[in-house]
Amino acid sequence: MQSTSGSPPGVVVILGTGGTIAGTAASAARHVGYQAGVLGADALVAAVPALQGWPLEAETLARLDSCDMDHATWAALAQRAALHLARPDVAGVVVTHGTDTLEETAYFLHRTVAAAKPLVLTAAMRPATALSPDGPQNLFDAVTLAREPGVRGVLAVLGGVVHAGCSLRKLHGYRVDAFGSGDAGPVALLEDGRVRLLRPWPDAPLHPAVAQAADSLRAASRWPVVDIVSSHAGARGEVIDALVAAGARGLVIAGTGNGSVHAELRAAARRAVAAGAVVRRASRCLLGGVVVGQDGGGPDALPATGELTPVQARIELLLDLLAAG
Ligand code: SIN
Repeated sequence: MQSTSGSPPGVVVILGTGGTIAGTAASAARHVGYQAGVLGADALVAAVPALQGWPLEAETLARLDSCDMDHATWAALAQRAALHLARPDVAGVVVTHGTDTLEETAYFLHRTVAAAKPLVLTAAMRPATALSPDGPQNLFDAVTLAREPGVRGVLAVLGGVVHAGCSLRKLHGYRVDAFGSGDAGPVALLEDGRVRLLRPWPDAPLHPAVAQAADSLRAASRWPVVDIVSSHAGARGEVIDALVAAGARGLVIAGTGNGSVHAELRAAARRAVAAGAVVRRASRCLLGGVVVGQDGGGPDALPATGELTPVQARIELLLDLLAAG
């Protein structure tokens, strides 16, 4: 299916949070060693002549290097995005962000913001000062998608590829084509300013915490501590003991292969559960999740998180614990 961008159906609100897309380097030849999150959302819009004259509003919410993304910024972002999406004059919302935790923010928004209109994240691998920055085209594509009639859900667009917010994965640390959608594949393509749909727009089933713990969800200081531990050769159970002692109420173990967990961590996980923590296992593999066999994984198996990546599973467990009160 292919549709075209006609006259603008409404305002697109751009919420800036920082990242390389807003980063500046000392020289145009530098793609690393720059400072992320320097430019505000206004400056990003001003750098794209093709956006001039379009009905846009730009707000700078944060100027973070997204490796420092925090729960307070997530809570504020979800509230601002929901507020703007509810406005009748708004066609969609675009979030500019760093690439490093883009998949986490996308999944969090996917589970917490009712997006009957497009909520589109974008980012860049090269700073705004690069000889050939990818940010301006990505921002143009994101705004194009956000004002396209019929689009809905939390989406991310980078390099002309539209990913569902629930499927996004950063796959490469340097290359411009750094993102994928895992087994799900992309949702659409942006080609010469037009949207080519490949599969239905993602549905956005909100997490029960949105209804059951709305006040707590708005106040990040009330969020439970949920940490991720990786299973690896020589893994030490003391890491889990220490996290529980430091207040972790939930733990996701990024297991090897199909979610297998080192015996030392399994023993520590049993101690953690006995102490009241919730422990789940995901897979640290780049693609795929944990496939639970017909035996349910065996009597002693930790609950598995299916297709979720460890960082997605952490968000899901955090929301589960919030909903449980
Ligand atoms: C960041 O995630 O904020 C820095 C790296 C990037 O955006 O590519």
